[in-house]
Amino acid sequence: MRVLVTGGAGYIGSVVSAELLATGHEVVVVDDLSTGHADAVPPGAEFHQLGITDLGGVLGGWGIDAVVHFAAKSLVGESVADPAKYWHGNVGGTLALLDAMRSSGVFRIVFSSSAATYGDATENPIPETAPTRPTSSYGATKLAIDHVLSNYAKAYDLAAVSLRYFNVAGALLTGDGIGYGERHVVETHLVPLALRAARDEGGNLSIYGSDYPTPDGTCVRDYIHVVDLADAHLRALSVGAPGDHQIVNLGSGSGNSVLEVIETVRQVTGRDLSVREQPRRTGDPATLVAANDLAATVLGWRPKRTLAHMISDAWMLEKSVP
Ligand code: UFG
Repeated sequence: MRVLVTGGAGYIGSVVSAELLATGHEVVVVDDLSTGHADAVPPGAEFHQLGITDLGGVLGGWGIDAVVHFAAKSLVGESVADPAKYWHGNVGGTLALLDAMRSSGVFRIVFSSSAATYGDATENPIPETAPTRPTSSYGATKLAIDHVLSNYAKAYDLAAVSLRYFNVAGALLTGDGIGYGERHVVETHLVPLALRAARDEGGNLSIYGSDYPTPDGTCVRDYIHVVDLADAHLRALSVGAPGDHQIVNLGSGSGNSVLEVIETVRQVTGRDLSVREQPRRTGDPATLVAANDLAATVLGWRPKRTLAHMISDAWMLEKSVP
């Protein structure tokens, strides 16, 4: 299959591109490099530095069979402060991409949706049928795109799959010494920040809230290895018929607290980090864990890699970067 990967110079997009190439697919990456890195595009992928609103005149000539769509703004806090950037960038950008796909005869898409569509969940594990009440503009734009895909699939014979990720971590380490991992310029995620603190020997890490209604008082999240996540995308490319839109959670079905993540970082790295308790971060739900039965049924997918595996792979990469 010849696959267009939007946002293929970003964290998850680069891992999925590398795995697509490794399994014999052809990959065309478009990324405007607003947050991605050109050197994260895997060797063997065709790369165009373009935004998703720039594809109207060119997509038809690329011979694309399917699109995996990652390109998006993805900072939850920023989305609350500047919603226009998120509605124009994420929803406006996706509408332009879908227009380009329709006029070029490309009718298959796998979309990077998010657990942020559920917001403050009333039940855990969260099934795909749970109410969607996003607490940020980021989550609201991902939910809006899920609705667009449902409508477009029915009306325009699109085959669409929305994958709702829970907390993605880890890295892809390839045999040839190349690694693909998290390199956000603005880093807000727990695992990379904890590894950075470990790398700096006793570096500081904030714990945002220790008075949540969870077993140890810190937030519980469902962590999933980016390589398991990539595997789900590859599977999603061959499910569903024209007219179908499926929404599928990607998570492990169980959670770890912030303190458990920090303890695993200490064990895996053999380093200490100094931890400071801070007030809660606005908008953080206490617990977010995925129900993942649908992923097993629809995609034949279950995650294989543990939290320690994610942290170990991300640590190997963190250590190798000067
Ligand atoms: N946390 C800390 N200290 C830090 C960073 C994070 O204690 O320095 C805590 C957070 O408060 C949260 C947990 O670690 O309880 C995980 O935080 P992340 O920022 O790593 O991940 P989130 O759960 O906030 O975000 C993830 C995805 C988002 C998505 C969101 C949906 O990364 O894209 O889930 O809720 F929007």
